[in-house]
Amino acid sequence: MNVPQAFQYQGSKRALAPLILKFLPVKMRRLVDPFTGSAAMTLACAAHMRAERFWINDLNKPLAELLNLMIHRPEELADAYAELWKGDAEDALEHFYTVREKFNRTQEPKLFLYLLARCIKGAVRYNSEGMFNQSPDKRRLGTRPETMRQNIMAVSMLLRGKTIVTSHDFRDVLEATEDDDVIYMDPPYQGTSGDRDSRYLAGLSFDDFVVALDGLNSRGLRYAISYDGRTGDKAYGETLPGYLGLTHIELEAGRSSQATLLGREEQTIESLYLSPALAAAVGKIPSRLITRRNAVQAELF
Ligand SMILES: C[S@@+](CC[C@H](N)C(=O)[O-])C[C@H]1O[C@@H](n2cnc3c(N)ncnc32)[C@H](O)[C@@H]1O
Repeated sequence: MNVPQAFQYQGSKRALAPLILKFLPVKMRRLVDPFTGSAAMTLACAAHMRAERFWINDLNKPLAELLNLMIHRPEELADAYAELWKGDAEDALEHFYTVREKFNRTQEPKLFLYLLARCIKGAVRYNSEGMFNQSPDKRRLGTRPETMRQNIMAVSMLLRGKTIVTSHDFRDVLEATEDDDVIYMDPPYQGTSGDRDSRYLAGLSFDDFVVALDGLNSRGLRYAISYDGRTGDKAYGETLPGYLGLTHIELEAGRSSQATLLGREEQTIESLYLSPALAAAVGKIPSRLITRRNAVQAELF
């Protein structure tokens, strides 16, 4: 199935979404996506008709506003993009910097879509003052307006009328969840010790995250987290504490481009953690997928 992409975004779970979906309930009343980014998991769930309603949230306000526009005022957004896109016009690079400067002044979400489409690898970057400072991709022109319009309309068709969009800290979202919600979390996981991360507008404290998960456990909520991972033997991200009782699953995310460049054949493995309530709800998980780190859990299946 061809699931539309809202926009290219660093850390997007688009490629991994079909695998992650296997570990979510077949039918959900509502999926809550507190670190939604480009909403890849939400869109995958919507396209596969796995949830009736959605709540997407991202602390990055222009990003959340952009998703809201895309869902609820798609024509207006597509028109604005068509006006901003410059293709390979002679002054295209200069134009990018002009739009970037205007975006940093106004935080206008329509300008943000253009920057995401045109910047290097869709990788947002912020300086210490929270100013967007990524450069334009000199080889790619950014999604053509006709393609962008089709993507925007497809996203809107999937989510309109059943989605709320907010821009809060994830803890506020978790507090407002209902007992039969299913929560998918994909927080920024590197540089977790501080709360600054140049890759996203806001980082996240590891301790705050663990406390929030503990709270969800005491409510018996069903949740899944994409958190850490490894390439070959090199692990990244901090391991979540064993007392949370999470089931740890390793998913093959594809060949590492970095390793291929260095002439090594290495798979990138991404972790998925299931809360005790979710693991119980999805039933038997093949034990080869569960790692020794959570051996106690593995024995339960
Ligand atoms: C790894 S990205 C999510 C990518 C997403 N799964 C996708 O497929 O595009 C993490 C997101 O969390 C957001 N974020 C960072 N700190 C946050 C917080 N405290 N509360 C809510 N969102 C936060 C960032 O702005 C970023 O968009």
